[in-house]
Amino acid sequence: MLAMNYRGPLRVRIDEKPMPRILHPEDAIVRVTRSCICGSDLHLYNGSVPDTRPGMTFGHEFTGVVVEIGGDVQKLKVGDHVLVPFNIACGRCVFCQQELYGNCHESNPQATAVGGIFGYSHTGGGHEGGQAEYVRVPYADVGPTVIPDDMDPDDAVLLTDVVPTGYQAAEMGGIQKGDTVVVFGAGPVGIMAARCAWLFGAGRVIVIDELDYRLDFVRRYAPCEAYNFRSMGDPVLFLKKATDWLGADVCIDAVGAEAAGNAMQTLLGRKLFMQGGSATALHWAINSVRKGGVLSIVGVYGPIGTLVPIGNVVNKGITIRANQASVKRLLPRLIEHVRSGVLRPRELITHRIPLEHVSDAYRIFSAKLNHCIKPVLIPPAK
Ligand SMILES: NC(=O)c1ccc[n+]([C@@H]2O[C@H](COP(=O)([O-])OP(=O)(O)OC[C@H]3O[C@@H](n4cnc5c(N)ncnc54)[C@H](O)[C@@H]3O)[C@@H](O)[C@H]2O)c1
Ligand SMILES: [Zn+2]
Ligand SMILES: [Zn+2]
Repeated sequence: MLAMNYRGPLRVRIDEKPMPRILHPEDAIVRVTRSCICGSDLHLYNGSVPDTRPGMTFGHEFTGVVVEIGGDVQKLKVGDHVLVPFNIACGRCVFCQQELYGNCHESNPQATAVGGIFGYSHTGGGHEGGQAEYVRVPYADVGPTVIPDDMDPDDAVLLTDVVPTGYQAAEMGGIQKGDTVVVFGAGPVGIMAARCAWLFGAGRVIVIDELDYRLDFVRRYAPCEAYNFRSMGDPVLFLKKATDWLGADVCIDAVGAEAAGNAMQTLLGRKLFMQGGSATALHWAINSVRKGGVLSIVGVYGPIGTLVPIGNVVNKGITIRANQASVKRLLPRLIEHVRSGVLRPRELITHRIPLEHVSDAYRIFSAKLNHCIKPVLIPPAK
């Protein structure tokens, strides 16, 4: 079958790989119908995440048709068209029982922090991903969810990650009625977080990025105020000024380890790999949230240490909440939000690229060419 193949930093290509097989009675094999590229894939692509092994197939946001099931699979059947959450979760460990599906204790033998993730580095369990024609899906009765007949498949594929992550970013902010919410990052995740902030009662939503086309998009889509940090001097000062010098009630980091905007962070985190990425947006978020405010982090950072102004966190009494999104927990309510039109995820998809051209897709999304917001890879029709 055709599959994306990671060859080392900034090098991916399409290759022939062996068909995945059922390895456990709870597995299913899925023929992929759509597979997105995510900001999280860019951390891998750029070589920022330890133990990203050449030969891996990335892709944790996919939909597909079930073509084979293991002997213990009861809920799924061959022929079902499913959306598959990016977290691999067993559904029965102590963390899954608390609906912390992103922190499953069984699906990632390599670590005790994050659970298994499709198509990630071996810090996420080394599971092959969905940027391929076929993929093996462990615990097939837990994550995969049949796509409702009336749902557009482009909406469905964004329910595997972007929508729940943006929603959970807003949810973790503990937004109170009328709050001012600042979102750092106008990628798909930040755009969705800004849109969802209103659902929790925000009174004002501000988005910060450096890409004008994304700022234009989010200004209309969320809708919200949106500003370019390249033209505001010190972003922290700008945001203080914009909030009566008190700071925002809630800040959301939807940027993560590839943040731009600070030469020292870029050098330490992105060039020399001396810390788990550049923490520039995280710094700005800590310093521009008000005393007693909430910082919600969904941006991904490497597992090693990162320079953050922890003293300011303590002295300002900031509450920090962070996690990988718990997709399965959120799906029932988000499917309803999509069906009722409260959320319109498919508008984020700007590029549909054949799987065979996966290296072009990475180049376009990584360099933010052609006003790219979200690319989706389409495997050859069967
Ligand atoms: N926690 C989760 O469950 C989860 C799920 C999906 C994605 N993520 C993470 O969310 C983050 C965003 O993902 P995405 O797909 O939207 O990525 P993306 O690369 O499309 O978007 C990131 C945006 O941040 C902007 N940016 C860079 N530096 C900035 C700064 N200092 N301040 C403000 N904006 C800045 C970039 O210009 C870009 O538009 C990534 O770190 C990704 O790994 C987390
Ligand atoms: Zn993703
Ligand atoms: Zn579990």
